[in-house]
Formats: sequence, structure tokens, C-alpha cells
Amino acid sequence: MDSFTLATPRLKLSAPTPDDAGAIREHCQDPLLSRYIPAITQPYTLEKAREFIGFAEEGWHSGTELTWGIRAAGDLVGVISLRRVTADDIGFWLGARHRGHGYMPEAVGAVLDWAFDPSNPLRVESVGWECLIGNTASAAVARKCGFTFEGEGPGRRADSSGEHPLSWRGRIWAADSREEKPGWPVV
Ligand SMILES: CC(C)(COP(=O)(O)OP(=O)(O)OC[C@H]1O[C@@H](n2cnc3c(N)ncnc32)[C@H](O)[C@@H]1OP(=O)(O)O)[C@@H](O)C(=O)NCCC(=O)NCCS
Repeated sequence: MDSFTLATPRLKLSAPTPDDAGAIREHCQDPLLSRYIPAITQPYTLEKAREFIGFAEEGWHSGTELTWGIRAAGDLVGVISLRRVTADDIGFWLGARHRGHGYMPEAVGAVLDWAFDPSNPLRVESVGWECLIGNTASAAVARKCGFTFEGEGPGRRADSSGEHPLSWRGRIWAADSREEKPGWPVV
């Protein structure tokens, strides 16, 4: 499928391009990204950023993973993906200096609006989220976006050593409100 753009009041979401490699490499120097996203290994080189952009292009082509660069005032501030392999689930990161502005709930909301749009032929019934236990910033984003906390268990995806680390999980259904739900392990 062809990539497409989503927009919010402050953000533009569009597929990463080769011109984004430098910004992605710079953001991915952050040890916090490597801690919570197994695919971001150090040293994170320009070559790895280019590989990631190629992977994102393939994901769009096959329709198995839709990846957008999150852009604020023209700068790439983070990345968000909707994976459509075994189940539909969402993953995201923001560069360290772009956190704390509420960008991620805004970006997730735009992806959910598209994913649940009844007029979208590719619409889905629900979107899952998971993070390593203790990643309270990620859980806060899912909670703010209206996901329901589903508990903890082995992560759906293996980490770099092939393990499925204990993870927090959540899900939001097309008919759900976007209001915060009770039951999250973080305030
Ligand atoms: C997860 C991650 C994207 C969350 O980033 P973040 O900075 O906490 O999220 P946001 O930028 O959306 O900021 C949310 C905060 O900004 C505040 N905020 C500031 N201005 C705002 C605005 N205009 N609108 C909404 N919220 C705003 C919110 O109140 C919120 O603060 P709170 O958490 O104290 O309530 C980020 O921590 C990250 O990239 N972590 C590493 C990678 C990672 O773990 N990814 C997830 C793997 S599962």
C-alpha cells in the first residue's frame, strides 16, 4: 500500500524518508530508547537509521507495519507504528528533548481515529499496546488515550536474546470512549 499522512493540530505524521536518517540516529543515541525498545541497540549508527527507514518502507509496501515519523514544526520528533502482523498493536517513541509536551497522546489519537474510522476499508476492531513492566511513561500515554489495562504477561515480541520479557498490556476497541479507564498500575 502507499503511505499516507495524518495531521493533528500540532503534528504531521508521515512516512520516514531517507532525509530523516540523521534525526533518527541522533534521537536513538538515548539509552532510554534502547532500554525499552529492543530493536534500538547501541551504538546506533546512521546505517541503522537507514535500515530502519528501509524497514518502514517495506512495512508500508506489504501493509504489515504502518510507520509514521512524528513531525512538529517540520522537525522529526519521534516515530509511531501500527503493526498488523499477529494482532494490531501500536508502538512509539519520542526524542528526549521532545517529551513532556503531550505529543504522543496526540499522535496515538490520530492513528486510532484512522484505524477505527468506519469508512476506512482497512479499519480494525481493536488496537493493543504493551511495554516492559515499569515503563510508566509509555503506560501513561496508553492510559491517557483510553486504553484498558489488561494486566501483565510475557511480551508478544521477543527481545534481542529471544526472550519474551514480562510486559504490561492494554487494548482499546473501536467502540470504546477515549476517556481514561480505571485499573492502571500507574497514576
Ligand atoms: C513513552 C514516551 C513517548 C512518552 O513521552 P512523554 O513525554 O511522557 O509523552 P508526551 O510528550 O505525550 O507528554 C505527556 C506529558 O506532557 C504533558 N503535556 C504538556 N503539554 C501538553 C499538551 N499540550 N497536551 C497534552 N499534554 C501535555 C502531559 O500532561 C503529560 O504529562 P504527565 O505525564 O505528567 O501527565 C517517551 O517517554 C519515550 O519515548 N520513551 C522511550 C521509548 C518508549 O518507552 N517507548 C514505548 C515503548 S512501549
